[in-house]
Amino acid sequence: MQKAKDTVLITGGAGYIGSHAVKLFLEKGYRVVVFDNLSRGWKEPLEILGKLGSLEFVKGDLRNKKDLSKVFGKYKISAVLHFAALCSVNESMEQPELYFENNVLGSLNLLEAMRKSGIKKIIFSSTCATYGETKYLPVDESHPQAPANPYGESKLLVEKMIRWYGELHNFQYVILRYFNVCGAASDGTIGDSKKPSLLLMQNAVRGAMGIEPFFLTCPTVKTPDKTPIRDYIDVEDLVEAHYAAFECLNQNGKSQILNLGNGRGYSVKEIVSAVEKTFKIKMPREHGEARKGEYAAIYADPKRARRVLKWKTKKTLENSIESLRKWYESRPDGYRK
Ligand SMILES: NC(=O)c1ccc[n+]([C@@H]2O[C@H](COP(=O)([O-])OP(=O)(O)OC[C@H]3O[C@@H](n4cnc5c(N)ncnc54)[C@H](O)[C@@H]3O)[C@@H](O)[C@H]2O)c1
Repeated sequence: MQKAKDTVLITGGAGYIGSHAVKLFLEKGYRVVVFDNLSRGWKEPLEILGKLGSLEFVKGDLRNKKDLSKVFGKYKISAVLHFAALCSVNESMEQPELYFENNVLGSLNLLEAMRKSGIKKIIFSSTCATYGETKYLPVDESHPQAPANPYGESKLLVEKMIRWYGELHNFQYVILRYFNVCGAASDGTIGDSKKPSLLLMQNAVRGAMGIEPFFLTCPTVKTPDKTPIRDYIDVEDLVEAHYAAFECLNQNGKSQILNLGNGRGYSVKEIVSAVEKTFKIKMPREHGEARKGEYAAIYADPKRARRVLKWKTKKTLENSIESLRKWYESRPDGYRK
């Protein structure tokens, strides 16, 4: 077996996006240490991915400084990819304190543990939710940030902390502001398994496959079809951008803030129609309880990420829908037995 390259720490590696990053970094020959408290993630993807290379799992909580100092004491880590967070807008509107404690305090503990161990490279999962209601479209990285919910606010606060650690402690960072993430691994091995499921395309595919009823949960907004417009990025394209960001940090150490999106907006109804087209069915458009903290339209100007990372998205909406079909065919309930 080929000798593993450096060790990367992936927080939240048992979750949806983090597990896809674990897969890619293992495939690229890195040794991966996953730090996750399994509050929203699963051990199962890690068992599946363990076969690909050198993967260690540490069950720990960002809110517990001892858990963090143990992991940094045990492994010689070269960089951190920080995915771990709570990320339900709705939940954050009901329990803001949970979001500030978990996401903000947790990330501060992580930054401090890194600083004390002399590890200064971090790639952070931020979100377009830090922009809030848009002033102009497409949204570039200079767009004002005014989150419309505590989830987005918690991520903005972490962005600010990381920037200060860059300024004052020479941290080198890439802050990646994701738009809406969709899809699953194209080989069908891993996918999303949120409890409960939060993501539109995932839910629409589950509805189309008859796994569970599909409800529209979006508020009525001022867009042509009155449903929110978002920018969808496939999870495999997204993690490729993380790998490119990691390589850039290693090559030039230059800190960056980048949007990760496709640069095109689709309304909720358009996504549902795309799913219907792939499955050649019509789904009932019943309305569930409307989400809180949502806004009308947002899509990315992804030019800077394309230029800096020499990366671009490759997957179409149809590719993402097909990958979800493959995933749910083998695991209709995700990792839940
Ligand atoms: N899914 C999206 O569309 C989207 C969009 C923008 C940004 N993001 C960001 O991407 C990241 C990953 O999102 P996801 O969809 O994979 O979420 P997820 O819930 O599937 O994964 C998050 C993981 O973090 C872990 N975690 C949470 N709090 C922790 C703590 N205190 N200590 C240790 N582990 C903890 C959870 O157990 C879970 O495994 C998040 O930071 C999220 O804010 C996601």
